[in-house]
Amino acid sequence: MAGKTVIITGCTSGIGKETARDIAKRGARLIMACRNTDAANKLKEELIKESNNNNIIVRKLDLSLLSSVREFAEQINREENKLDVLIHNAGTAEVFRKKVTEDGLEMTMATNHYGPFLLTHLLIDLLRRSKPSRIVVVASSLYVFARVNLNNINPTTTLPGYLYYVSKYANIMFTLELARRLEGSGVTANCLHPGLMSTGIWKNVPPPMSWLVNFLLNNLCKTPEQGAQTTIHLATSEEVEGVSGKYFSDCRESSLCCGVADPSKGKKFWELSEGIVKLQPTDPKI
Ligand SMILES: NC(=O)c1ccc[n+]([C@@H]2O[C@H](COP(=O)([O-])OP(=O)(O)OC[C@H]3O[C@@H](n4cnc5c(N)ncnc54)[C@H](OP(=O)(O)O)[C@@H]3O)[C@@H](O)[C@H]2O)c1
Repeated sequence: MAGKTVIITGCTSGIGKETARDIAKRGARLIMACRNTDAANKLKEELIKESNNNNIIVRKLDLSLLSSVREFAEQINREENKLDVLIHNAGTAEVFRKKVTEDGLEMTMATNHYGPFLLTHLLIDLLRRSKPSRIVVVASSLYVFARVNLNNINPTTTLPGYLYYVSKYANIMFTLELARRLEGSGVTANCLHPGLMSTGIWKNVPPPMSWLVNFLLNNLCKTPEQGAQTTIHLATSEEVEGVSGKYFSDCRESSLCCGVADPSKGKKFWELSEGIVKLQPTDPKI
């Protein structure tokens, strides 16, 4: 990956941290797009020491705030002359409480879908100029437990876990529609299920349920390093050069269900999302 520039969102912990560790070792210019810049700078020093790769920088990004997404993208467009891989890894699961952002969006959907949706638009020209380039979206197989309701795409509910599943359904719908829109541009878009593992994503599960969840995750599931492998495969492997609009699990293409791949729904959801993130006529169009 020497000579390539890679952005990873939310790489201060879990899967993102292990993805960053691997990409750093492969010699890419690594842009760590993180909300907690203190933690990110600490990790950056660790990665530089481990990899002997000095080409690692931290940039502030809070995906739950549309203003932060715009500031981050503006800085990247000003500072970088290429972008080979954009990895949408950051995620949150505000599964037991209703939290609304200052843009009036439900927090889980804002962080997991609307922030990445806007960011992709604002960086698309840089990706197009850097072709062949790749967009990788970390989704989840848990999408099967929900649907995006096209009559209410900013839903709020306290039903445990539900909005997280909706956001992961949204990640897949978004990726497939993105790939359709980018056909022939030299920019590919794929999404993935990393497997299940113990990371910060489960931190809002309250006890005693968390005891059982942690026991299962620690004893029966993947490690974060194993969980990062499908992201790394999609971001770096020659095997997937030119492959677009697919869903992967364990580094292999996997099938989808539950209407998530319906192109007419994907198109409608895209158009509604444009309104939610207040896309401007001057913003790049995809
Ligand atoms: N772990 C699993 O079993 C599993 C399974 C399927 C899919 N996934 C997906 O894997 C991805 C990575 O999650 P993980 O499991 O590694 O969890 P994690 O350890 O909690 O990591 C999530 C990362 O996202 C960042 N983040 C959260 N909110 C953000 C915001 N508003 N702006 C910018 N960054 C933000 C976090 O940063 P802070 O340090 O600032 O909070 C953290 O670095 C997520 O998309 C998740 O949905 C995980």
